[in-house]
Amino acid sequence: MAPQTYAVAHNRDVVHIRQAVRVLAQQCRLSLVDQTKMITAASELARNTLVYGGGGTATTGLVRKAGRQGVAAVFADEGPGIPDVDLAMTDGWTSGGGMGLGLSGTRRLVDEFELVTETGVGTTVTIIKWGR
Ligand SMILES: Nc1ncnc2c1ncn2[C@@H]1O[C@H](COP(=O)(O)OP(=O)(O)OP(=O)(O)O)[C@@H](O)[C@H]1O
Ligand SMILES: [Mg+2]
Repeated sequence: MAPQTYAVAHNRDVVHIRQAVRVLAQQCRLSLVDQTKMITAASELARNTLVYGGGGTATTGLVRKAGRQGVAAVFADEGPGIPDVDLAMTDGWTSGGGMGLGLSGTRRLVDEFELVTETGVGTTVTIIKWGR
């Protein structure tokens, strides 16, 4: 199935992205626990795209590697970027009024995590969770 791209502009978009990720996670036979981890991770990143990135897109799809199938989600914005990634990835660090657990928690919930950001250009975060 071709990847799908969703706008991340409103709170309700986060709900749609959660649903899309759930369907994909079931298709590639993630366990119930892993489905929940991937959905939680996607929610956190979608929320960051919305709140800090000023909105953007989420692209979701199935991916294959070495006979395994997984769910991938890419969150992209053209917001301010993250000046200090190490700091942003620290448990409990927030520039706003959050808990500062979104990025650090997300990295622990998924199998693959990649963050690309440039000040004044934007932020792209890619996550993958592999099925059985
Ligand atoms: N897409 C983004 N664009 C710009 N800055 C970002 C983006 N995502 C995260 N950040 C920065 O990284 C910090 C840490 O993000 P993280 O999701 O870990 O915590 P939070 O959103 O502040 O709180 P929480 O997610 O726990 O409610 C944010 O406070 C923000 O400064
Ligand atoms: Mg967050």
